[in-house]
Amino acid sequence: MNTETNPQKMYEALAAKLGDVMPDFELRMKAEVAAEINRLKSEQDVVILGHNYMEPALYNSVPDFVGDSLELARQAARTDKGTIIFCGVRFMAETAKILNPTKTVLLPTEKGGCSLAGSITAEDLRKLKAQFPGVPVVTYVNTYADVKAESDICCTSGNAKSVVESLDSETVIFIPDEYLAQNVAKETGKRIIFPTRDPRKANVDIDYQMIGWPGRCEVHDKFTVEDVTNVRKQFPDVVILAHPECHPDVIAAADFSGSTSAMIKYVEKITAPRYLLLTECAMGENIAANNPDKEMLRICSVRCPHMNEISLEDTLESLKKRQYVIDISPDILKRAARSVERMISIG
Ligand code: 13P
Ligand code: SF4
Repeated sequence: MNTETNPQKMYEALAAKLGDVMPDFELRMKAEVAAEINRLKSEQDVVILGHNYMEPALYNSVPDFVGDSLELARQAARTDKGTIIFCGVRFMAETAKILNPTKTVLLPTEKGGCSLAGSITAEDLRKLKAQFPGVPVVTYVNTYADVKAESDICCTSGNAKSVVESLDSETVIFIPDEYLAQNVAKETGKRIIFPTRDPRKANVDIDYQMIGWPGRCEVHDKFTVEDVTNVRKQFPDVVILAHPECHPDVIAAADFSGSTSAMIKYVEKITAPRYLLLTECAMGENIAANNPDKEMLRICSVRCPHMNEISLEDTLESLKKRQYVIDISPDILKRAARSVERMISIG
């Protein structure tokens, strides 16, 4: 956390981390904005949470806490501040609101979507539940509050396997990420079907223990096994890390798979000279800034357009104008809280 309110000192702190990758004039502009955010924040009852995908100048300055979805949900559950500014996407800010129904949660952008969260509606889930009555529903946090309200328990990429294993049920519905579901099915030894894609499989007498949904992350869906093979040919000593939202074949071809924070910790722990992250590009920049001895290869043509909507400038506007307020109906808040709190309680 950087609480500096003096623009020159903020510039010096940012330059020490990002001076090799960002032009000086940009650093000075970002430092002005970051120092102003910290000055205003010090006068208000506000906590800023920043996802690991935030742009380097933001990630390395104003958040009180940075982390993956699970770590930030835990921080949101713990905070005693009256207002939470969530530098991430809408479903993450909604999760913070679900855990803090009486607090104000602000998202610095009006949109902040996510292709996974947009892939399933509450009505879709109600239909799926009607098709498989009594089967518990595990819902990835990358969903909107009304979908969480229809679920038994949430999970993130950091705890999906343990959440599935915590249920006293041989069969589970796991939505909406097709690849994460397949990756968890592989890890837990469960056979998975996708009834909305292939309805016949749900009707015939086949053995299945997981029921999935065909949602995909528009970013992680772009990485292929061919990419992994080509990078290994070009850089034989590279260590490749893939987020669990990648296709199972990509995960199998990579050296490590884990949540965004698990990837950061893995790079910090091992001593290889060169790394490639199959995830949003800003992660590589953020790791490089904090580990100058490690070379990060970048695939910055693949970016999350939603995470990229949030900048330091938007965060300043959010703080000044108290925008954009996350508003969820009391009934949905109450029902969604059960599934999010159940996840937090199992770790
Ligand atoms: P993490 O929970 O691993 O931070 O992932 C969130 C996400 O949206 C990845 O695309
Ligand atoms: Fe959603 Fe993918 Fe962006 Fe993560 S990277 S917020 S899963 S679209």
